[in-house]
Amino acid sequence: MKAIVLQPIAPGKPGEIFYPLQTITTPTPTAGPGEAVVRIVAASLNHRDLFQRRGLYPGTAPSIPLLADGYGVVVTPTSKFYQKAVIINPARGWASDPRGPEIGGSGGAGGFAILGGTKHYRSGTLQEFVAISEEELVKAPGHLSPEEAAALPLCGLTAWRAVASKAQVAAGENVLIPGIGGGVALMALLFAVKRGAKVWVTSSSKEKIEKAVALGAEGGVLYTGAAWEKELAALLPKDRPWLDAVVDGAGGDVVNKVTRIMRDGGRVVSYGMTLGPKMPFTMGAVLKNLELLGSTMGSRQEFFEMVEFVAEKRLRPVISRVVKGLDEQQLESLWEDMEKGRQFGKLVIRVAEDAEAEERGRL
Ligand SMILES: NC(=O)c1ccc[n+]([C@@H]2O[C@H](COP(=O)([O-])OP(=O)(O)OC[C@H]3O[C@@H](n4cnc5c(N)ncnc54)[C@H](OP(=O)(O)O)[C@@H]3O)[C@@H](O)[C@H]2O)c1
Repeated sequence: MKAIVLQPIAPGKPGEIFYPLQTITTPTPTAGPGEAVVRIVAASLNHRDLFQRRGLYPGTAPSIPLLADGYGVVVTPTSKFYQKAVIINPARGWASDPRGPEIGGSGGAGGFAILGGTKHYRSGTLQEFVAISEEELVKAPGHLSPEEAAALPLCGLTAWRAVASKAQVAAGENVLIPGIGGGVALMALLFAVKRGAKVWVTSSSKEKIEKAVALGAEGGVLYTGAAWEKELAALLPKDRPWLDAVVDGAGGDVVNKVTRIMRDGGRVVSYGMTLGPKMPFTMGAVLKNLELLGSTMGSRQEFFEMVEFVAEKRLRPVISRVVKGLDEQQLESLWEDMEKGRQFGKLVIRVAEDAEAEERGRL
């Protein structure tokens, strides 16, 4: 079968290196104990996949199939999911502890690890078949297309933990989601809106703000403006002129920017730092009793909760662009979109044309 990996090249400085993509032919996996083989129908990119190509992601290992997100059909006759359309939990080794992966790896063999391109979990979804522990599979919600189902796992899980478990966003609250063009940010928007919050956004583009409004956001401002926080303050409702929570993946000076417009004891959830691996927490934020909450992907339990919420509310992840097949040039164009910040939502690969799988997904 075919798989896409990073080409092993001479190591360079993190951030300066850019690993080329490489297509390899590798034996089709067989199911080990407790595993099922999934025929991948669609896969999708996350920001980590760009960090990996630049050598900025811990444990990156060339020659391991890339990507964490996948949707497909189980082809192992002995599996309880046989011929079912499934979504793959993008990580393993974290069962249910709300604080973080269980100490000692009790959430699964070998401790917490994320699928795709690393030495810690030597597999990924950018290949034609993948063997996965059945524990990490969930039946795909029937209302999602294969592309939407593949777009859901990592961003959905990260956004769910940030919005539901960490920020605990409640009805009527004002929530800021910076950088709304991002995959996680858009899922966070969908979740927060469905929980009844008023969502405000920032973006590099007016068009993206308009699209976010069409998805349920109240409004937004361009983060490219020097005083965007003042513009945002002017938009907040008169009867609730503060932010209750911020769900952020960009980092930078976000805490400093929002402190004055947050309520006392407001929550700032940080699920990523696209702008660089440090962000200041200020004395002003301390005096405002702000809570800074670090947040990662999530446990298997949160993954199942998230998929259930998506199925119940019939939410659809936003797709930016889809390419067909494991064609290196086409794939390269997706990484370019992400590098240049052109995307609004998820960048997806339709790995296999499988009309039968689509039918089965709707069983
Ligand atoms: N800890 C975890 O487990 C975990 C899980 C998932 C993601 N993450 C991290 O979360 C971040 C986002 O991931 P993703 O996959 O959603 O990325 P993505 O789809 O590539 O989106 C990145 C977004 O960042 C926004 N952005 C860029 N510069 C910004 C700035 N100065 N201020 C505000 N926003 C800015 C852009 O928004 P516009 O397009 O609107 O301009 C862009 O769309 C990454 O750093 C990723 O590594 C962490």
